[in-house]
Amino acid sequence: MIKLIARRTLLAAALSLPAFGALAAPLVMGFSQVGAESEWRTANTASIKAAAKEAGITLKFADAQQKQENQVKAIRSFIAQKVDVIAFSPVVESGWDTVLKEAKTAGIPVILTDRAVKVADPSLYVTFIGSDFVEEGRKAARWLLERAAKTPGAALNIVELQGTVGSAPAIDRKKGFEEVIKTNPKLQIIRSQSGEFTRAKGKEVMESFLKQRDKKIDVLYAHNDDMAIGAIQAIEEAGLKPGQDIVIISIDGVRGAFEAMKAGKLNVTVECNPLLGPQLMQLAKDVVAKKPVEKRITVNEGVFPAEVAAKELPNRKY
Ligand code: AHR
Repeated sequence: MIKLIARRTLLAAALSLPAFGALAAPLVMGFSQVGAESEWRTANTASIKAAAKEAGITLKFADAQQKQENQVKAIRSFIAQKVDVIAFSPVVESGWDTVLKEAKTAGIPVILTDRAVKVADPSLYVTFIGSDFVEEGRKAARWLLERAAKTPGAALNIVELQGTVGSAPAIDRKKGFEEVIKTNPKLQIIRSQSGEFTRAKGKEVMESFLKQRDKKIDVLYAHNDDMAIGAIQAIEEAGLKPGQDIVIISIDGVRGAFEAMKAGKLNVTVECNPLLGPQLMQLAKDVVAKKPVEKRITVNEGVFPAEVAAKELPNRKY
C-alpha cells in the first residue's frame, strides 16, 4: 500500500512539471564586442557579462580586437553554434549586409548594442540599444558655444581627435559637433585626425598637432575620454597646461575623466553610458519570446563640466 502511494505521488509530481523531460534550457547569446580599446569599453564588457549571469543567460563572448573581420568570423561561428540570439557592437557602420542575411536565413535574431550599422534592409536586425552619438557631439559643441559667448574676441582654433575611422560614434560625434559650431564663425576646426579611441594614439596624434606650429591651438575636442587623457600627457610634455592653455572637451564620462577634471586638466565630459547589460539581457529575452520591441532604444545622458567633478566623482559607476 505504502509502495503504491509513493509510486502515485511520484507520477503526480512528474506530470505536474511544465513539460516533463523538456525543462527550458537557458537562453544562449553570442556577443561580439569591439575590443578593449577604452575605459568605456571595459565598463561595457563588465556590464554585459555581469548582467548575463544575473539573468541566467549563457553568454558566448568574443573580443574582435577592433577588427571587423574578427566580428564577421564571430557572428558566423555563433550561427554555426545555433545560438538563440546574437548581439554585437559593430566596430564600423558598413559592410554588414551579407553576414546579417546569413543570421536571418538561420532564423537567429540580431540585436545591435552601443553602435549602429548602415544596411540596405533594416529587417536584418531586430533592435538597437545605445546612445545618440549625434546628440553627444551637439552637447559638446553647445558647451563650447556658451564658453565662447562669455569670452568675446579672437577666433578659437579647434583640433579634433576622432574615434575609429568609419565607426558610428566617430561619424556622428563629428556631425553633431560641426552642426552646432557652424553657428559661430569664430569657432574653426583647424586639424582633425583619428586617435582610434585609445590613449596611446590620442597622445601620438596630439603630439603631431602640437608640432605643427603654424596656428595656435585653443581647444581640443576628443571623441572619447581616453584620447583626451592621452592628449593631456602630450600637452604637458610640450610644456603647456591642459585645461588652461588648451580647453579640453571629451565624451564618455569615465572615472579617469572625472579625475582629470578634478585636477583641472580637462574642462568638460559629455556622458555616454556603457552600462547597457541589464537592458540588453531583458531585450534578448523579449526578442526570443517574440514580444514586440522598439526599433531604436536610446539612453538619457548628462554633461559634466569640471566645476561638478569633485562632487560627482564618488557617484560614478564606471
Ligand atoms: O561606441 C562607444 C565608444 O567606443 C566610446 O565613446 C569609446 O570610448 C569606445 O571606444
